[in-house]
Amino acid sequence: MLYSQTQIAETCQQLGAQLSKDYHGKKPLVICVLKGAILFMSDLVRQMDTDMEMDFMDVSSYGNATESSGAVKILKDLDISATDRDVLIVEDIIDTGRTLACLVDLLNHRHAKTVKICTLLDKPERREKKISPDYVGFKVPNEFVVGYGLDYQGLYRNLPYVGILKPEIYMQNQ
Ligand code: XMP
Ligand code: MG
Repeated sequence: MLYSQTQIAETCQQLGAQLSKDYHGKKPLVICVLKGAILFMSDLVRQMDTDMEMDFMDVSSYGNATESSGAVKILKDLDISATDRDVLIVEDIIDTGRTLACLVDLLNHRHAKTVKICTLLDKPERREKKISPDYVGFKVPNEFVVGYGLDYQGLYRNLPYVGILKPEIYMQNQ
């Protein structure tokens, strides 16, 4: 286990308090990047004391493996227009940064007023794109992590904590 349910709850509270200040009087469009960010998003927004709208995007970059394929594809786009909005992207983890670099470009292209990133986890060692999140829950080492929304082959999203996947689990599938 890397981060417990209690540590995650405290972090959501702290991030929520900061976001409430930073977005005071603004009505942000809060975007959940499916599926990994759903648990974080739902806990985070309940700590944000500000008017907001929520929307969801599904993008794929990883398929079922622990390594990125390189391609970023939009599987589900926003329902609400991002034009002139203060957009907050909520993500589970930033790894190479490819997914977010693509999303930030897209939202700027659509003329969002501001685009900020809040990620539960940051894995800076593997970064390829120049992406620095505005709000970070925890830094993680260069290991494959699961739980609290993050999966391995669709499993473990429901764990209430974040843990490092045992290598024997993914070795047996190679
Ligand atoms: P990039 O490389 O584009 O990747 O920053 C971001 C997406 O990759 C997935 N990802 C992980 N998922 N454990 C996971 O369960 C990990 O350690 C991990 N590293 C990257 C994740 O979906 C994220 O949105
Ligand atoms: Mg994700």
